[in-house]
Formats: sequence, structure tokens, C-alpha cells
Amino acid sequence: MITENILVLSEEEIKEKILQKGNIPKHIAIIMDGNGRWAQKRGLPRSAGHQAGVKTVKRVVQAAGEIKVSILTLFTFSTENWERPKSEVAAIMKLLYDATRQEMKELEEKNVRLITTGRIDQLSFQRRNILKKAISRTKNNTGLVLNLALNYSGRMEIIDAVKKLAQDVKNNKIKSGQIDEKLFHDYLYTDGLPDPDLLIRTSGEMRLSNFLLWQAAYTELYVTEVLWPDFSEKDFYLAIWDYQTRERRFGKV
Ligand code: FPP
Repeated sequence: MITENILVLSEEEIKEKILQKGNIPKHIAIIMDGNGRWAQKRGLPRSAGHQAGVKTVKRVVQAAGEIKVSILTLFTFSTENWERPKSEVAAIMKLLYDATRQEMKELEEKNVRLITTGRIDQLSFQRRNILKKAISRTKNNTGLVLNLALNYSGRMEIIDAVKKLAQDVKNNKIKSGQIDEKLFHDYLYTDGLPDPDLLIRTSGEMRLSNFLLWQAAYTELYVTEVLWPDFSEKDFYLAIWDYQTRERRFGKV
């Protein structure tokens, strides 16, 4: 729980405290929500909110790297987001393209490895290409893994896994009796990644919105009222501080 005493501390002081505690979450997932409302409050187009959101992405990637988070998964574009007005979808896609192109060098230098989760094959050729380039350029990096969930839907991920699994059973690659949680996990888009320890959602909504449905089974949830473009390093460290005060029981006593 966030108390008054912690709120008065500076960003640096909170950072120090969470580092002292030691149990920094290995994998943090974030639902970056509130860009539209942030823009609306300022009488700006929604795209301006997404643009400001990219600056927050940079801040949070830097902060996560500094405290040695292993994996940061950002819900960047859901399959449902295609239903937004064409101009907004185009603006988000352009931001994604521009940011990937502009930040590639810095990601490479700062030892960040870029990966994606979702149906990337349904993005345009140009966008897929720039992502592939950044993924390839950073593939040997050993620091923070930055995982962009793109054209992602949790239910679709489970359906895709079931389809692949059914095919492998049909082709006698595996027997149905072998199917367990561990094996199923290997069929998900996130194959190879540990489940998130902490899931942060900005802008106050209390739902998962089809994000990491399988993987978030025992993830600690943290919701803040702060809108994504306003989400600061201090807010990020506060979320971790809150996580560190929890007792994770994984269904046991
Ligand atoms: C949610 O806010 C935000 C999105 C759907 C898009 C997030 C995308 C970015 C921040 C740009 C991504 C770029 C990189 C490089 C990762 P909302 O529009 O749902 O806000 P609202 O709920 O207030 O309307």
C-alpha cells in the first residue's frame, strides 16, 4: 500500500529504498492507458496523447534498465485497437515506426534487447521490417528485454496455442496425455519468458483488457490513477515499492 510517508520521498529516495529491499520484480508488464484522456484534457487530438505516451515509454525503459528489471512487456497495440478511427490507428502506427527507427541505436548501445509478442505478420511490410531490423540489431544484448505486445490479444494467443497443439497431437509429435501447464506455456507467444511478477495499469481502470490472460494467473496487480503520459519514474518506483510490500502466496497459505 502507498502511504503518505512514502509519497513525500523523492524519486531517488524511493529508488534507493526499492533497491535496498532487493526483490525487484523480474518481469513487469504494463497496460499503458489514458493517452486519449490526457490529450482531451488539454484540448489536443488523441494522437498528441500517444505522442506524449512514447516519451513515457522512454522514461520507463530507462528506469527499468537502471534497477535491473529483466523483462518489461508493454501493451502497445491490441487486436481490438484496429477498431479505432483510421486516423488514430495510423498515428499510433507511425509513432511505432518512428520510435523504433529513432531509438534503435540507443537500444543497441544501452544493452536493451527488443522482442515482440503478438501477430506481427499482420502489420504492414514497412512496420514489420523496421521491427525485424531492431530485433536483429539488439538480439545479442544482455540487459533489459523490452517486449512490445503488438497486435496482441490474450484470448487469440490461447486459441493460437490450442491450434498448434492440436496439430502436433494430430501429427503424433506429442500425446494428449503429455499436455500440462508447462507444455502449454511453450505454445504461447511468450514461450521462453517467465510470467510477469507485476502488472501495472495506468489511468485507474480495473481490468485486464485481454492482456496476458494465461500468464497473469498469479501476477500482482497495481492500478494507478495517473494517466500514461504523466507516469513518471517516481510512479514506476512507487509501483515496485507497493509490490515489495505484498506477500505472494501462489494459492498456498
Ligand atoms: C491507451 O490509451 C494507449 C494506446 C492504445 C496506445 C499506446 C501506444 C503508445 C504509447 C505508443 C507506442 C510506442 C512505442 C514505441 C512503444 P488510450 O488511447 O486508450 O487512452 P484513453 O483510455 O484515455 O482513451
